[in-house]
Amino acid sequence: MHAPTWDEHADWWQREFTDGADPEYVEQIIPLALRHLEGRRRVIDIGTGEGQIARATASVLGADVIGIDPTSSQIAEARRRAGGPEYLVAGADALPVDDESFDAAVVCLVFEHVDDLASSIHEVARVLRPGGRLLLFLNHPLLQTPGSALIIDHMVEPAETYWRLGPYLPGAVSVEEVQKDVFVRFVHRPLSHYLNGLVDAGLMLTRMEEPSPPPGFLAKSGDAERDLVAATPRLLLLVAEKPIGVP
Ligand SMILES: C[S@@+](CC[C@H](N)C(=O)[O-])C[C@H]1O[C@@H](n2cnc3c(N)ncnc32)[C@H](O)[C@@H]1O
Repeated sequence: MHAPTWDEHADWWQREFTDGADPEYVEQIIPLALRHLEGRRRVIDIGTGEGQIARATASVLGADVIGIDPTSSQIAEARRRAGGPEYLVAGADALPVDDESFDAAVVCLVFEHVDDLASSIHEVARVLRPGGRLLLFLNHPLLQTPGSALIIDHMVEPAETYWRLGPYLPGAVSVEEVQKDVFVRFVHRPLSHYLNGLVDAGLMLTRMEEPSPPPGFLAKSGDAERDLVAATPRLLLLVAEKPIGVP
């Protein structure tokens, strides 16, 4: 099957998930990012897309922000939307910036599209100064496996509502139709691959958050499934730091 590229669906992403269109970004992801970035002066947003986290970080926190993304249509839109950050076209596995030049790095819903996870995490570790912080946002790798879905089984009485998990342990590349005629390539990995990737790059986990979906997202669920949706995290945030004083 043809492997879809981000250039093919950047307009879908920009329309559906940015500029206030998506309650998870407005109510949860951007506020979480700002909370964990407070006080950080130089920030790199890796896989910045059209720059929504980069712009918020620059405008709300007054940080100097560089956003990088290999998808030229995302960077073109980020530059058009402007708002403070500087943008570069580059991939996560070869960041065109100096060693130890950032107080924080944000990687939001990006590593599930990246093939070379180890190199990408090592690049984060390289560009962070000692004491620098990584915010790694992921589609929750345990609960958002390929094939996971809300199931309402009307074959039993009363109807049973449950969360179906697809295969968790095998790493897998899948192409999912996320909306009619929009195909996105995902790389699924178990959580241990991310955590061990941080360990191997010398980064230390300092916080993990798995929030319930925010009110604006839950409002879109039917009454029958809202409690289950509220109990099933979509998002995982790992916060890790580069230790000070370790050679
Ligand atoms: C789901 S979007 C997230 C955009 C942005 N981080 C946000 O939260 O709004 C995924 C982004 O990852 C980018 N991406 C894909 N492969 C990448 C890679 N190898 N290195 C860096 N970014 C990549 C895509 O171009 C796309 O903009």
